[in-house]
Formats: sequence, C-alpha cells, structure tokens
Amino acid sequence: MEYNIALLKGDGIGPEIVDSAVAVLEKVADKFGHKFNFTPYLIGGCAIDAAGMPLPQETIDGCLASDSVLLGAVGGPQWDDQPGERRPEKALLGIRSALGLYTNLRPARLYPALRSASPLKDEIVGKGFDLMIVRELTGGIYFGDRGYRDGKYGREAFDTEAYSVTEIERIGRVAFDSAMKRSKRLCSIDKANVLESSRLWRKVMHELSVEYPEVAYTDMFVDNAAMQLVRDPSQFDVIVTSNMFGDILSDEASQITGSIGMLASASLGASTRGMYEPIHGSAPDIAGQNKANPLATILSGAMMLRYSFGLSAEADCIEDAVNSVLDKGYRTADIIGDSTASPLSCTEMTDKVLSEL
Ligand code: IPM
Ligand code: MG
Repeated sequence: MEYNIALLKGDGIGPEIVDSAVAVLEKVADKFGHKFNFTPYLIGGCAIDAAGMPLPQETIDGCLASDSVLLGAVGGPQWDDQPGERRPEKALLGIRSALGLYTNLRPARLYPALRSASPLKDEIVGKGFDLMIVRELTGGIYFGDRGYRDGKYGREAFDTEAYSVTEIERIGRVAFDSAMKRSKRLCSIDKANVLESSRLWRKVMHELSVEYPEVAYTDMFVDNAAMQLVRDPSQFDVIVTSNMFGDILSDEASQITGSIGMLASASLGASTRGMYEPIHGSAPDIAGQNKANPLATILSGAMMLRYSFGLSAEADCIEDAVNSVLDKGYRTADIIGDSTASPLSCTEMTDKVLSEL
C-alpha cells in the first residue's frame, strides 16, 4: 500500500525525534512492501520565524491532503512572549480543530523494564497498570468563548466551558468502543458536583452506558481521580474526560509511568486521517544535542499504522522492537533510572530499534 504522511517536525527536539520515527517507518515499509511518502510542513515557533504565524494555511492544506500526520513537538522559550493568538501552542489547537480531531487517545502503561523509573512506591506499581485516557480534544474551555469584561472587581478575563450533547456522545462512543476492545471497564471523569457542563456530560454518559451493558461503567469527580491515579492506578482501564481534565490527568498519568519519553498519542476524528505525536514536549534544554528519547515518536508511528492504516502486523513489529530494545537494557538518559549503563543518544537508540525490525 502507498500512503502520504505529512510531517510536522516543529520545534526543539521535534526534528530529531521525527527523523527517528521516519527511519523506522521506512524500514517497516521496506520489510512489508509498502510505500510511505513524507512531506514536511511548518508548525509552531519555526513557522512563526519563517512565515510570521504558527499555523500557515499551507500546513493545514498539506495535512488535509495527506493520509495521516506525524507531529514532533512545538514551542520554546524564544516564543513565550508572543500574544495568545500567535503562540506556538495555538497552532496545535488550530490543527486539531482544522482536521476535526475530536478524540485524543493517550495510553499510559507501566513498562515492566522501566518500573524502577516510576516515582510511585513499589507496593503501588507492583500491581502494574495500563490505562487509556480518551480525552475530548476540540471542545470545552480550550475552544469556548473568551475575552475581557467588567466584572464585580473591575476588569476581568474569562474563558467558558461548554459541551453539547453531540460532542459528549461522540467522544463517549469512542470511549465505550475502546473499553469493549480492552478489559471492558470505563470510568468517566467530570466535576458534576459543581459544573453544569459536567452534569450534562454525566447524564449523556449514563444514557450511553445502557447501550454497552458489557462495559462496567463508573464515574468519578476529577479531584478524586487525580488522587486515585497516584493511590492505585491499576483500578483504571479506559478513562474518558473533557479537554481540560484530560490535559491535566494525562500529564499525571504519564509521569507515574516514570517514562514520559515513552508515551505516544493519537488524535482522531471521523475519517481515518489522524495526527500522531509523542506526549512529551519540545524539551528546548536538550534540543539539537542528540540526547532526546525517540521512542515515544517511534511508537506514535506505530499507532498511525494501526489506527489510520489498519496495518496491525506492522504496528506490532515496531512495538515488539521497542520492547526488545528495552529488555536488552538499552536506555536514553531520561529512562536510565539507577542503571549503570551509559545512556544512548537519540540516533543510537534509533539504530537499536532499526536493528530489531
Ligand atoms: C497537550 C498540550 C497542549 C494541550 C498545549 C500545548 C496546547 O498540553 O497536548 O496536552 O493543552 O492540549
Ligand atoms: Mg498537556
């Protein structure tokens, strides 16, 4: 099969880790007789520097014309004083919205080989955990009405959280469907004791749960969920939640794996075109030094093969290669933990994965 893949390398370590994933995807294409055509487009700070805006129209058009999108990371201190509309992060929200990517899948699993890197106590991580956060990605407070107005205490800024039945239902279905493919447990997280939008969220989720009698459905308030994630993450399988709560909880979930440099994500919409990116950021402190961990981006490439192209044997092949590299004890600096081995560079780690394929 032949696929066109748009590359949004972005800023910081973005170019290095995307190059690693491309090398891996090319090797897999060779091995299985596919052809992947890669076309790079600008996004984030590099697009501000080159084109004066973080998300040029050419980038949106290029992504819309491709079969799928692989993204590195955006942002860095040199663009931090840009006004809100021109911040690199705005490009991320913009491209998600332009591509209609309302679902964000963020798996957070504990790699047994990396257990010692988790900040949680042995008695907690001993049980292991493997959870899938399904985050709503194009609605809620990140996209709601915002502005300035005169309030009770004078000038104030506001943002609005709003969810429609349609938006809740479509993300709910994705979550119930993924629970059906996993261990059939789904926890919906909201703040229904305070927020009207959460009360609607909970009502719609409850109604949907009737259609999925095999799924053990529960709901939980977000403050409790934040606590339960560090108290006993093994209680969760699939979590579904709003854009902002998902943003926050997915960072927490990635941290407890001890290996944020390992975690991939997929953003999906109604079509098979998705956008795949590592969960970690652009790490400006190590950019250009060949120190970054490429595994999350390589694994994002595997998710692309699985979710956008339906190439599950090829995706398995990449995931197996990553697992065996870890089992053999190879580590980049971020996951070295208390190992005495010397850390591999980004390109060395990529070569290890390539040689396992
Ligand atoms: C993420 C990031 C983004 C988000 C930012 C950079 C806009 O934190 O992907 O989680 O909030 O969605
Ligand atoms: Mg985030």
